[in-house]
Amino acid sequence: MTAALSARGVELSFGATPALRGADLAVTEGEIVAVMGPSGSGKSTLLHCLAGILVPDAGEIDVDGVRINDLDETARSELRRDRFGFVFQFGQLVPELTAVENVALPLLLAGVRRDAAIRRARQWFGPLGVEGLESRRSGELSGGQAQRVALARGLVAEPKVLFADEPTGALDSFTGEQVMDLLVASARERGTTVVLVTHEARVAAYADREVMVRDGRVTTPAEVVVP
Ligand SMILES: Nc1ncnc2c1ncn2[C@@H]1O[C@H](COP(=O)(O)OP(=O)(O)OP(=O)(O)O)[C@@H](O)[C@H]1O
Ligand SMILES: [Mg+2]
Repeated sequence: MTAALSARGVELSFGATPALRGADLAVTEGEIVAVMGPSGSGKSTLLHCLAGILVPDAGEIDVDGVRINDLDETARSELRRDRFGFVFQFGQLVPELTAVENVALPLLLAGVRRDAAIRRARQWFGPLGVEGLESRRSGELSGGQAQRVALARGLVAEPKVLFADEPTGALDSFTGEQVMDLLVASARERGTTVVLVTHEARVAAYADREVMVRDGRVTTPAEVVVP
């Protein structure tokens, strides 16, 4: 099976700080991969490189056979809009918009009419346990509520690939499991490829496969040698 997404030899530094030092990862279509590893190891940076948000200093990122690090910003942003969904580590809802408008945003950007986009966005609130909060602005939501709204925004446009960075980080374990059940069911139903960054083994257990990021490189758990 060809990889839906792959990173090969990806290096990226923030000034003098190396975040990725030759990261390799291949994800097949429809696969759910959990990316684990210590804080500061490069997980979010790898996710942002795979998603075409950051351009690596060296190495290659391929999406469906297209070398995306050669694309210009316009082409990368079109790719993100048309094929990717995002749940960012720090939520990043648009504060001026209501919760339901935030969820509808990817549909509006894709050209869906406003009333249809709002209707589709509303459907996520019940299953995610945030029904009744549709008209709140992000500053009026708790961290866990904002995170669920951000997840709905990531899923609403039925992306080919969902990039989710700690999507349950602000949730208690019960709500986290409900959210993961929904995320995985939605991904399986639509064949969505998911790259999921998490610190929690219980969350990673939902994935088909786990990889570890350490010091800017990807290892599989089996390669971690226990002395
Ligand atoms: N915008 C930035 N500017 C400077 N340094 C950064 C920036 N973003 C990340 N870094 C550094 O790059 C390294 C990798 O960061 P990254 O955010 O990828 O880690 P992470 O594995 O996602 O950590 P966490 O689990 O805490 O989210 C860290 O040393 C971090 O301090
Ligand atoms: Mg991170």
